[in-house]
Amino acid sequence: MNEAADTSIESTLSENRVFPPMGTGRLKGATWRIDSMAEYERLHARSISEPESFWSEVASELHWFEPWDSVLSGEMPDSRWFDGAKTNVCFNCVDRQVQSGHGGDTAIIWESEPLENGVPETKLITYKDLQRETSKFANVLKSMGVKKGDVVTIYMGMVPELAVAVLACARIGAPHSVIFGGFSAQSIADRVHDASSTLIVTCDGLHRRGKVVPLKENVDSAINELSEGPTPQVITLKRCHNEITHHDGRDHDWHDLMAAASDDCPCEPMEAEDTLFLLYTSGSTGKPKGIQHTTAGYMVFTYLTSKLSFNLVPDAGQVYWCTADIGWITGHSYILHGILPNRVPTIMYEGAPNSPDESRFWSIIERHQVTQFYTAPTAIRAFMKWGDEHPNKHDLSSLQVLGTVGEPINPEAWMWYRRIIGGEQCPVVDTYWQTETGGHMITPLPGATPTTPGSCTRPTLGIDAAVVHADGTECAPNEGGILVIRKPWPGMLRGVYGDRDRYIDTYWSTISIDGKPVYTAGDSARLDNSGNLWIMGRIDDVINVSGHRIGTMEVESALVSHVSVVEAAVVGVPHEIKGTALAAFVTLGQGFEPGDALIDALKAHVAKEIGSFAKPDQIRFAEALPKTRSGKIMRRLLRDIAAGVENTNQDTTTLEDLSVVAKLRESQEG
Ligand code: WTA
Repeated sequence: MNEAADTSIESTLSENRVFPPMGTGRLKGATWRIDSMAEYERLHARSISEPESFWSEVASELHWFEPWDSVLSGEMPDSRWFDGAKTNVCFNCVDRQVQSGHGGDTAIIWESEPLENGVPETKLITYKDLQRETSKFANVLKSMGVKKGDVVTIYMGMVPELAVAVLACARIGAPHSVIFGGFSAQSIADRVHDASSTLIVTCDGLHRRGKVVPLKENVDSAINELSEGPTPQVITLKRCHNEITHHDGRDHDWHDLMAAASDDCPCEPMEAEDTLFLLYTSGSTGKPKGIQHTTAGYMVFTYLTSKLSFNLVPDAGQVYWCTADIGWITGHSYILHGILPNRVPTIMYEGAPNSPDESRFWSIIERHQVTQFYTAPTAIRAFMKWGDEHPNKHDLSSLQVLGTVGEPINPEAWMWYRRIIGGEQCPVVDTYWQTETGGHMITPLPGATPTTPGSCTRPTLGIDAAVVHADGTECAPNEGGILVIRKPWPGMLRGVYGDRDRYIDTYWSTISIDGKPVYTAGDSARLDNSGNLWIMGRIDDVINVSGHRIGTMEVESALVSHVSVVEAAVVGVPHEIKGTALAAFVTLGQGFEPGDALIDALKAHVAKEIGSFAKPDQIRFAEALPKTRSGKIMRRLLRDIAAGVENTNQDTTTLEDLSVVAKLRESQEG
């Protein structure tokens, strides 16, 4: 049995606790938008059997310059949503609220990481403020020559101007490509090049745990890396006042440009299928892919899922907080694009959960009376480790709904979250989705779905999910299989930027049902006897480290690009906080000696090539890597070795040279 032939997926988790939905006690002036399973089932069935009427009703809650000719047309993978319509995402996030008389309401609550005299800086930004600022920055973009369709790269910290930049792009129809502030110069260069982007919006630096990350310096290095194409222009916002180098003719100052800009810039009516943004994500080859989302479908889908998964209700005193960075899809969909149209204030927090100490998040919840809190399992595991005394010092009774996203949550962390943060009074919504899906796919609805720790429960409205075998037939209950989506949904990705083949190969070629391609998510899952779905993990060469997707190939190529390394294999190992950590096995070229200095150098090299978050926790030197006779690296075997599993049950009969394994084990002991 080799790796390729072994398609059975074993599940070892068994969890039987069931928590019925909560009463409305904590909702204060609101009710559950969907308050029973019968209602969920009725709506879900309708959303699948009559998608056109279902989605047109949802869409009619938003603003359109021109109505659609058809709700859904084309065939997967080229489905089109709301064809013929014209709309604008910035208009629906901002101008629509101003027009309906809510211009003075708070849209964004921003809080700084650094404290002054023990208190953070807070900014309350109204819809009217956002309308003025996005209009001004939209005019700045235009004055720099940005036209509809031109990709604008944004590499900033979590400052209010990041939201302004993103929404200003949407205002004029320039797709944004936001790069998380943890990425290195090389990663910026790759993304700028791939998107042929000619403008980068950045900050001098960003605050992280009392330190300054030099963003502008990284942009300067990235531009130096770009060998072909025009040199991008750079707009820099001053946030940290760290020293930066100014390049005449290329570099521009955010503040100067904004001071001179007019605040009149109407939203551009966009075609439904015009691109709203690109967001690069790791895949199973070395090159990150630019996931492409379009305007109308993404807007309608993130609007509805925000409203239902978090039970957002305007004018009911709610304050919503998602702790993600806008550099990831969670921040795109569930800090800005899906939340603002729901007219509930959204918090943007600039920094780390343990700055200045481990109670920072709980203090934010108490001070701002947060009602919805959305974070990641890796953060929850860190909170548990830091101790209950931190949350226990704060009044968290404003909370109504707790969300989690990014990786499977272990039942212990789920229970802690519900008990210590939610005081057993808040439903936990474990939302499963991806950069590619735009919004939530499988999630409880907080007023309706009975929950079980570790399960993301049911497909949300409009989502036809199934667990299947490689031939497309459905798996039996509790049998692990491949997670697929069988029908188009409005938030689905529309392509991989500039790479049609990769789009088809990655998402639409693995499985077909009744002769038609279905969407493969790259995750394995199982459906239990009570109809709940359980995500079992990635089935491709992508690893979730602290909820960040990292392609093993990307890290391997980074390692191999170091002079000392001839071959590298990267695998995941279980980790208490990160969920999974990276372990790298490398073979060195002649003349290079293994040792701690080289380990440090290789880690630093990966940080330089990708970003610090991709640094392997372990680096092991090996004279050779275990391979099958056909030359495939035996990753499962490496996983066992990295995790210290003594008696691997991996079949080694196809292994070329058994002494390799013995040597790897020796290296571990040594
Ligand atoms: C994983 C993040 C289990 C999954 C929104 C998916 C999850 C990948 C969950 C997407 C969850 C995300 N339970 N696994 N609730 N949420 N994942 O693109 O492997 O950064 O394919 O999007 O994260 O990561 P991405």
